[in-house]
Amino acid sequence: MDFTLTEEHLMIQEAAREFAQNELLPGVIERDEAQKFPTEQVKRMGELGFLGMMVDPKYGGSGLDTLSYALVMEELSKIDASSSVVVSVNNSLVCYGLEAYGSEEQKQNYLTRLASGEIIGAFCLSEPEAGSDATSQKTTALDKGDHYIINGTKNWITNGNSASVYIVIAQTDKEKGHKGINALIVEKGMPGFEIGPKENKLGIRGSDTHSLIFNDVKVPKKNRIGEDGFGFKFAMKTLAGGRIGIAAQALGIASGAYELAKKYAKVRKAFGTEIVNHQAIAFKLADMHTQIEAARLLVYKAAKDKDTGANYDLSGAMAKLYASQVAMDTTVEAVQIHGGNGFVKDYHVERLMRDAKITQIYEGTSEIQKIVISRSITKD
Ligand code: CAA
Ligand code: FAD
Repeated sequence: MDFTLTEEHLMIQEAAREFAQNELLPGVIERDEAQKFPTEQVKRMGELGFLGMMVDPKYGGSGLDTLSYALVMEELSKIDASSSVVVSVNNSLVCYGLEAYGSEEQKQNYLTRLASGEIIGAFCLSEPEAGSDATSQKTTALDKGDHYIINGTKNWITNGNSASVYIVIAQTDKEKGHKGINALIVEKGMPGFEIGPKENKLGIRGSDTHSLIFNDVKVPKKNRIGEDGFGFKFAMKTLAGGRIGIAAQALGIASGAYELAKKYAKVRKAFGTEIVNHQAIAFKLADMHTQIEAARLLVYKAAKDKDTGANYDLSGAMAKLYASQVAMDTTVEAVQIHGGNGFVKDYHVERLMRDAKITQIYEGTSEIQKIVISRSITKD
């Protein structure tokens, strides 16, 4: 497979790199510490077209391919995964789903504003008792003729407070199991829709993660995405693409930590020489470089699969599984290479290490990716 980047890809990559250096890096440590949502940075990312990258320009998007999106995710995540997760959720889980499966009215009402970055969205599947086991959700969306009534609680919702539009997956007909689930568009401010407190997290602390509480929230039927009972398939199809975005995020976190570690190893001296001259350190860098390159190829392959219309369930899951492991391994080693300095905030690698962990958990844990992969490779 040819992964040569086009002129356009290189330009987009450079634009994201410059933005990350100039506008994400300043204040990233303070935002992490204060758990401050990157409001200004998100606004700028909207202006740069990063929030609706793959959406057709007629709906306010940038009309780019998935590989461009992966390149941007990688560059942003080298510096600030709290900002890149906003890009990931808005692009992959909100805009993609609406463009692929929404009605024309939904696209006009919501997609145009989401893709241009005027507002941001959230994707609400997980619940206190239904994370990996996503079909066992308890939130209900009862069919009342021309509207649904939603009751229940969603957990861990990224952009939980900063979003204006929420795609909520809920059970309409329990008897039908996953075929009785619907995906509904809920707007902030709808009566009975309450946002719970912000989670105090290990990593991606700038991202606002909240539980959401629904008490008799009335949602018009025209806000249902797709046919009655399509909600679970909608979630699965959307997540398949989302996993490419998170894989690219993991790749970026790993690359960011590796670049910092390599730079540090070339200047820090111990025993009369730069530590890079100690083979134990040089071999760590060799392993990091090799694993990152392998992760990159998996991420680009999954992105290309999506762009060429090939099935990307398998390649996306493999990319996420592998890249998130590489992110964990690489960031731990980057802290090690920095010695004591790695343990303090000023050197950035401890944050990257904390941020890496979430890539093994959200959008399907590593164990869930192995379920997806093993089912895919063993089916007839
Ligand atoms: N595309 C289309 N349909 C799919 C599909 C896919 N990729 N994967 C599954 N389905 C369909 C199946 O075909 C099946 O339908 P049929 O009965 O008509 O064939 C239906 O969905 C149910 O599938 P399974 O029987 O395989 O369901 P399961 O209960 O065994 O669960 C699972 C499968 C893969 C484990 C799934 O539950 C899963 O992905 N769990 C993880 C949930 C997850 O990723 N959550 C992320 C939340 S969002 C988030 O985290 C965002 C963020 O952090 C930023
Ligand atoms: P559980 O499902 O309880 O899993 C616990 C452990 O058991 C895990 O190690 C898991 O891999 C393992 N396990 C479970 N089932 C199996 C099995 N069959 N085989 C082997 N091992 C298994 N969700 C959203 O819907 N929208 C969001 O925007 C969102 N953002 C998030 C942001 C953050 C910061 C976090 C922490 C989570 C977010 N999530 C979001 C939720 C996330 O997708 C879930 O946490 C994740 O899917 C795991 O679910 P769980 O936490 O309930 O863990």
